[in-house]
Amino acid sequence: MSHGNAETLTVPRAPSSMLVTGGAGFIGSSFIRTRLADPACTSRIVNLDLLTYAGNLENLAGHVEEPERAGRYSFVRGDIRDQALVERLLEQHKVDALVHFAAESHVDRSIHGPRDFIETNVLGTFAILEAVRARKAAGHDVHLHHVSTDEVFGSLGDTGFFVETTAYDPRSPYSASKAASDHLVRAYAHTYGLSTTLSNCSNNYGPFQFPEKLIPLMIANCLEGKPLPVYGDGQNVRDWLYVDDHAEAVWLVLTRGAPGTSWNVGGRNEKKNLDLLHELIEVVARHANKDAAALRALITFVKDRPGHDRRYAIDCGKIERLLGWTPRHDFGAGIEATVRWTFANRGWIDRVRSGAYREWLDTNYGKR
Ligand code: NAD
Ligand code: TYD
Repeated sequence: MSHGNAETLTVPRAPSSMLVTGGAGFIGSSFIRTRLADPACTSRIVNLDLLTYAGNLENLAGHVEEPERAGRYSFVRGDIRDQALVERLLEQHKVDALVHFAAESHVDRSIHGPRDFIETNVLGTFAILEAVRARKAAGHDVHLHHVSTDEVFGSLGDTGFFVETTAYDPRSPYSASKAASDHLVRAYAHTYGLSTTLSNCSNNYGPFQFPEKLIPLMIANCLEGKPLPVYGDGQNVRDWLYVDDHAEAVWLVLTRGAPGTSWNVGGRNEKKNLDLLHELIEVVARHANKDAAALRALITFVKDRPGHDRRYAIDCGKIERLLGWTPRHDFGAGIEATVRWTFANRGWIDRVRSGAYREWLDTNYGKR
């Protein structure tokens, strides 16, 4: 493997066997679907996922069963905190790249119950790093790509953007746990010489997102005629990225990012929450053949989230310049695809919201 410049490889990394953690979640499943569909990617994939409330094997249904793909793909239900399990999988499957998506991912949940966030995001990443370190000590290098968030950088005022060198300033239990995991990854690279890359991405949206996050929650509530809860004054700003564009960025960084590098990923797509909701309502109304004014009447201003970060905005110039990445979906196209998907997959939303998926899981995998 050779270095093109300080940041990129001239000869791309070509993993023959990848361990993907959190591959049954929203972004991890997009990564697996897009990799298995890409003729240029021949890597075998082991998906390690605990199937928490956010993990759902339906997210991969229809993408992993075909014989050619089934031969390249396997699923293991397990916990990233189980270092012995991670080590065993790395050895058994001769893994040369580990792509780490698994996490507790929702800010509101982290405010109500931070413990799971510390355990999974901090201790889970620690166990992953220890497993990779043990493999290295045994003479087998595993490259680790760690998936993180722009929320580690804190909150911006009306102007400015996060760049890769922006100082960390996490302000929620979620972002603090992700920041801790990022620091551990960098410390292990520095101290033990592990080969690592890291990406910090803005808010994702798209198919299979758990309907607790803003966009899928609002679409589901529109369909059920439920209130659309806007926190505070609705003027908080997020930068939105279509999930498959994020998955593509992760693959580019994994294959072409030099060890020790970090990459910001964003949609160049800043929106105030309330503006976003108005746009979304127009699209949902058109698809549902409903009156947009009736949906707007569902908007309900509710008590603000404690410590609610005001604005996130990513400067993704580095990944655009050095790796040629660019988001393929502008917000209009992405939101259209997301709403169309939701209408075609009402069953998925209903099962997730009603708990029917959990019952299936308990029957097939045992209660946890
Ligand atoms: P998600 O909540 O949809 O999925 C998380 C997955 O991890 C689930 O399948 C869950 O079952 C699994 N998991 C949780 N704890 C586990 C454990 N202990 N062991 C094994 N598996 C476990 O999350 P997501 O939105 O797909 O986010 C994926 C990653 O991307 C996370 O690291 C998150 O911090 C990061 N990220 C997310 C966003 C976003 O907008 N969603 C933006 C930037 C970065
Ligand atoms: P969210 O999807 O939870 O992502 P994050 O907190 O990681 O950015 O929220 C996106 C924005 O939408 C955030 O400013 C909080 C706001 N929000 C609401 O106003 N109402 C809601 O019901 C939710 C879930 C979020």
